[in-house]
Amino acid sequence: MKVLAVSGSLRRDSYNTKLLRAAEELLPPDVELELYEGLKEVPPYDEDDDGHPAPRPVAVLREAIADADAILIATPEYNASIPGQLKNALDWVSRPVATNTLRNKPVAVVGASTGAFGAVWSQAELRKVLATIGARVVEGDIAVGHAPTRFDEDGYLVDADLREQLGEVVDALLLEAGVPRLVAA
Ligand SMILES: Cc1cc2nc3c(=O)[nH]c(=O)nc-3n(C[C@H](O)[C@H](O)[C@H](O)COP(=O)(O)O)c2cc1C
Repeated sequence: MKVLAVSGSLRRDSYNTKLLRAAEELLPPDVELELYEGLKEVPPYDEDDDGHPAPRPVAVLREAIADADAILIATPEYNASIPGQLKNALDWVSRPVATNTLRNKPVAVVGASTGAFGAVWSQAELRKVLATIGARVVEGDIAVGHAPTRFDEDGYLVDADLREQLGEVVDALLLEAGVPRLVAA
């Protein structure tokens, strides 16, 4: 089974990408986490370009989602909302409406920010967007506020409570994807 991990940040040292790596450590051995690394290449959404063939980076993203059993998205918060490039990519994925590759796909949302609230508004908006697209958005969240204090130099998530919460989100995602097993925090 495969989980596709999508970071909404393009930044090299992104806390959200670190959060996905922390989630990877919590997965059972038979579950693979693939980090999607093509977000920066996705062009601006233009309905005139949304035909056959789709732009290559869009086709790659749509296929990566189709090939995954579940999706884990870690989103930053930009001006109290979803970072534009992540929203743009989801707009591409949302088409065609009836057969988009996120439809009925189990998806979990987590988030980290340098501010106090851990990207909670962005996460809430992202859940709304994903539900509109037709994904099966799992309950449960984790808001990693003050992110620079939560990871050590190796990118390890040092806060035990947050690791436990992350384990619960991962567990809920795997359950939704048909893997009924508890993940050790
Ligand atoms: C354009 C921009 C807008 C931001 N707006 C918010 C915000 O509304 N709330 C917040 O908590 N942090 C905000 N931040 C700070 C981010 O939390 C911080 O840059 C964080 O490290 C981004 O996540 P990343 O480490 O995964 O790149 C903003 C950062 C940028 C660059």
